[in-house]
Amino acid sequence: MSASNTRYESRSVVDPARIRILCEATLRQNWREGVRSSDGVPFAYTCPSPGHYPWQWYWDSCFTAIAWRHFDPARGRRELESLLAAQRPDGFIGHTIFWNRPLSGRRRFTYNVTSPDAPMTASIQPPLLAWAWRIVVGDPACVPGIVRHHDWLAAHRDLDGDGLVWIVQPDESGLDASTQFDAIWGGQAHSLPGFIPLVRRNRRLGYDLRRIADAGGPVCAEVLTNVLHNLSQMALGRPSLTSVIVERFYDEDSGLFHPLAVPEPPRRPTVTWAALAPLALPDLPEAIGRRLVEQHLLDPDAFWTPLAPPSVSGSDPSFSRDDRGPGGVKRYWRGPTWINASWLVWTGLIRLGYAHQAAQLVRSVASAIAMQGLREYYDPFTTRGMGAVGFGWSTLVMEMLEVDPQVGAGYVG
Ligand code: GLC
Repeated sequence: MSASNTRYESRSVVDPARIRILCEATLRQNWREGVRSSDGVPFAYTCPSPGHYPWQWYWDSCFTAIAWRHFDPARGRRELESLLAAQRPDGFIGHTIFWNRPLSGRRRFTYNVTSPDAPMTASIQPPLLAWAWRIVVGDPACVPGIVRHHDWLAAHRDLDGDGLVWIVQPDESGLDASTQFDAIWGGQAHSLPGFIPLVRRNRRLGYDLRRIADAGGPVCAEVLTNVLHNLSQMALGRPSLTSVIVERFYDEDSGLFHPLAVPEPPRRPTVTWAALAPLALPDLPEAIGRRLVEQHLLDPDAFWTPLAPPSVSGSDPSFSRDDRGPGGVKRYWRGPTWINASWLVWTGLIRLGYAHQAAQLVRSVASAIAMQGLREYYDPFTTRGMGAVGFGWSTLVMEMLEVDPQVGAGYVG
């Protein structure tokens, strides 16, 4: 353990009851409910952060629904039902649903909508609805809307017919400006000037994977997106895609999972925490999981920082503690630590029996939250809170404090 870890640990005396109070207060404060004025459809969700993120974001809602089960499971269920209420008849659910706050100003031009008055984006976020439903409510296979949603993804986002889902823009992964996309999208990556023409082109093509691939792409099979998609498949009782994930993403030389893209990128994408995300898969071959943990996650120069895991490996040249890109624009997922990532890798530590390291991770997450509040992300070295305040999915710390016996089975046992 590095000297900075030791110093940090000595400060990390945390009262779980205080964290519980903070999480509940934040979830309640961020709760929004009502009826869509245009058509009377009811909605209820946790906005990610009141000042900064007013709408319903798909994967944020799945994460906060999971956290709600520690306080008021009925709200968790309503939050997921709200995603279903936004669903199109063909099963599609967008990345962001606007409910009663239509897009305005500049966002009408930069958001992934096919018309300025669209009720939601035409882009997706990682499809974990069935998995979240399984964790919060019960069997998702009994819910026609959830089945239809995952069928839509299989019909529209599987480029090669092997079950993996492909994304048409970096933000569809939820990891917006992650450095792994620099090699794939180049100057069109998230928050760079070329992103605007990319959005414009994809709008014209209706965010249709095959049309975008035919138009030259880029399109990408991203690792984290497929890990969450696979957990949903398993939650639905469908065959696991883990062997496909290993076959197509795993690189035996590095012991890491790498994304695929068409056209093939000019250089290998950088090493980000998504390379470790398969740790959340309950049927990941054990030898691969142990190598991910011992060679990568627990390496203090790479991912075992005082608040782990940073969104980019600390030893990758693309790692940055700052969140400002060229022109002072905020760029996400380029170094700081997000709590959904801590939780997902922690599930792997628990499953594989790294109890001591799992406990260390919980202490560091809880201590960062106790000292800095529920922030959107944190400096992986100093644990300073960064980004939006009162951030919804950081309440996932509750999953690490009040442990479900199903965690080792990926909650799908
Ligand atoms: C940022 C994140 C994305 C998240 C959204 C709302 O855009 O990159 O993952 O869904 O904020 O919290």
